[in-house]
Amino acid sequence: MKSRSITPALGALILVNRSHPLQGIPCPELAAPDPAHPHILMERRAALLLAACIRDAGARGQIVPVSGWRSHKEQQEIWDDTMAKEGEAFTRQYVAFPGCSEHESGLAIDLAQTAPEIDFIRPEFPYDGVCGDFRRLAPRYGFVERYRADKQAITGIAAEPWHFRYVGIPHALLMENRRLCLEEYIDLLRQQELACTLENGSCIRVRRLDVPDLQNWNRPSTGTYQLSLDNTGGVIVTQWEGTL
Ligand code: DAL
Ligand code: ZN
Repeated sequence: MKSRSITPALGALILVNRSHPLQGIPCPELAAPDPAHPHILMERRAALLLAACIRDAGARGQIVPVSGWRSHKEQQEIWDDTMAKEGEAFTRQYVAFPGCSEHESGLAIDLAQTAPEIDFIRPEFPYDGVCGDFRRLAPRYGFVERYRADKQAITGIAAEPWHFRYVGIPHALLMENRRLCLEEYIDLLRQQELACTLENGSCIRVRRLDVPDLQNWNRPSTGTYQLSLDNTGGVIVTQWEGTL
C-alpha cells in the first residue's frame, strides 16, 4: 500500500480541473474502501467514509468501486488508451487531462452497480434502487456527485453519475442544498461566509481566505477548526461553533 504522508492542511477541498492541476500536491495516505477490491484505493479518511456510506445505504455487495486513486502515469495511460479507442471528443468529455484528474488526488471514486460486465470509463450507476439510496445518503458522509449534466460548461466534464468526490462535512451538504459544483462553491465562498446546522444541532461556519491573509488571521480560541487549501490560492476555514 502507498503511504507517503499528506500535509493535513491540503485538505479535502482542493479544486482539481483543467485550469487547476495537481502540481506539487503529494500523494495521500491510501486505503481500500472495499476489502473485496484491495487494489482500488482512496485517501484514508475518504475510504472509511465511503465504506460507511455503502454499508448504511444497505448496498454492500451491490455497489462496487471501479476506479479510485490513480497515479499520474495511470491517468496518462487511460487518456492515451481512450483517445486511441474512442477519439478526442469522447475522451475530453469523460477523461480528465493527465495532471488534472481528481483521481490523482485520492479524493474521487467511480462506483458501479454490481454486474457481470462493468464499463471502466462509464460504469452504470443509476438514480434508482440501492445506487439511488447511496446517492441520497452520500452528502451526509461528505461525498458529492461531482459532474452533473447542467454543470458541464463549468466543470468541462460531461455528466458522470458514477463519479463521487469527497469534500467532507459540512461542504457536501452545503453544495448539495444549493446545487453547486465545487467551482461554484469556492466562488461563493470568495464572496460570503456560509453556515450550516447539522442534525445534532451543532453549527459550522465556513469561510475562505486568500493564503497570504492567513498570517493575520486570528485563530479561534475555542471550538474546533480545520483548514483546507483550495488549490486556487485560498484556504477554507471550517469552524465548529458548538450547539445553537
Ligand atoms: N473521469 C474523470 C473526469 C477523470 O478522469 O478524472
Ligand atoms: Zn471518476
